[in-house]
Amino acid sequence: MENKTVLITGGNKGIGLELTEMFIADGANVIVAARDFSNFKYNQHPQVRTEKFDFQNVAGIPEFIAGLPAIDVLINNAGVMYATPYDEYTAESVDQVLKINIEAPVALITAVSESMKDKKYGRIVNNASIAGQIGHPDVWYGITKAGVINMTKSFAKILGPHGIVVNAVAPGPIETDMLHTIPQARRDAIKAAVYTGRFGKPEEVASAMHWLATDCPEYINGTCIDINNGSFPR
Ligand SMILES: NC(=O)c1ccc[n+]([C@@H]2O[C@H](COP(=O)([O-])OP(=O)(O)OC[C@H]3O[C@@H](n4cnc5c(N)ncnc54)[C@H](OP(=O)(O)O)[C@@H]3O)[C@@H](O)[C@H]2O)c1
Repeated sequence: MENKTVLITGGNKGIGLELTEMFIADGANVIVAARDFSNFKYNQHPQVRTEKFDFQNVAGIPEFIAGLPAIDVLINNAGVMYATPYDEYTAESVDQVLKINIEAPVALITAVSESMKDKKYGRIVNNASIAGQIGHPDVWYGITKAGVINMTKSFAKILGPHGIVVNAVAPGPIETDMLHTIPQARRDAIKAAVYTGRFGKPEEVASAMHWLATDCPEYINGTCIDINNGSFPR
């Protein structure tokens, strides 16, 4: 990955941080975009550039991307979940989850794919969720993640002829800060449903996303890899 530039949204913590570390180890130039870098351990790393950006600002994404070097690999990882019952969701939260989880990734793909098309090379990996597959209790989160899976197929079809590979992952619950937003009763039910009685580790998701972004054959395009330890076998 030397001489390649990777943009990782939400690469400052959780699953995204694991990806940042994997791409640093590859020798890539890594651009991490998120809101809070106060506890980020790679602030001074020579291969890492940090960009404070709030992905609620969807309209600002074209200008944001125009200010960066050409992106070879986009990791659409930033996301939010509010774990709010459907009848208690505020209009503001609906607007935020749609912007951050759906509109921003689409705007990012649209913006970075221009230079990818010129180079006839690009890899895009989207972090969806099992929530987009199963009829999730967090209705708006599930809607956005189902959208991410469909967006992956649409863009693979649109961009595949230009040499760009677009795939996704659909993880079950993973041990990150996001897991703490899930009520305890649901966490217990999830643990009971998986084959080995534990939550996933961020590096298990990151290693699948890293493979999709690097060594995965070009013929795997428009897919979504389930990472759910048997809780949704199919
Ligand atoms: N953990 C799970 O159980 C699980 C399961 C399936 C899928 N996922 C997906 O995995 C992805 C990563 O989540 P995680 O589990 O690693 O959780 P996390 O540790 O909470 O990370 C979320 C990331 O998104 C960034 N982010 C959130 N809102 C943002 C905004 N408005 N602008 C810019 N960046 C923003 C955060 O950075 P800042 O807060 O600094 O902005 C952070 O880096 C998400 O898309 C999530 O839906 C997680």
